[in-house]
Amino acid sequence: MPAVRDALVAGTRNFRPEDIRKVVEIGNSSLTEYYTDTLLLDLYEAWPNSFIVYTVNERIVGFIVGSKFSRTEARILLLAVDANFRRKGVGMALMNNFVEVCNRENLLSVRLEVRTDNDQAIGFYKAFGFSVISVIRAYYSDASDAYLMWKLL
Ligand code: ACO
Repeated sequence: MPAVRDALVAGTRNFRPEDIRKVVEIGNSSLTEYYTDTLLLDLYEAWPNSFIVYTVNERIVGFIVGSKFSRTEARILLLAVDANFRRKGVGMALMNNFVEVCNRENLLSVRLEVRTDNDQAIGFYKAFGFSVISVIRAYYSDASDAYLMWKLL
């Protein structure tokens, strides 16, 4: 079932390098740090299977990308959904797909960092079963704090 009901075709697929412009646009309009094409393409090359986009009629409306924190633990680096497509299940579909990749690659847990004032993302991650493990002081470039969140897969 597509998460966006009225769309002709909606769902997840692997990121392709030609998607980079749209992904950077969604990232930089949704997230507070600044991301370049080069950085995102480097993340893709480091773990291609973890870079997943959600499309609605071929238009990219969200993405997720992770890294391997250890032999058994994945880390979500970036997750963002176009503001016009939030609260429609797009983030959940991206997370479910990311977890499938982790399971296939025998990873046992997943961690991430999120701004302590980012209530929508914290609400989203809690809804997905993540718990706050600790606070990382001055984690971001503007010296804001992060929560370290964690989930067993
Ligand atoms: N407040 C509380 N709970 C929420 C919120 C919110 N604003 N948004 C989602 N949830 C919870 C709800 O339980 C929701 O289910 P419901 O709609 O049936 O109540 C559930 O999460 C699933 O929501 P989705 O619709 O799948 O989430 P969405 O597609 O809106 O994506 C996301 C969530 C990615 C956090 C989106 O809000 C976003 O892009 N925010 C801006 C970017 C951002 O903050 N990204 C995370 C940064 S941290 C990092 O990247 C590691």
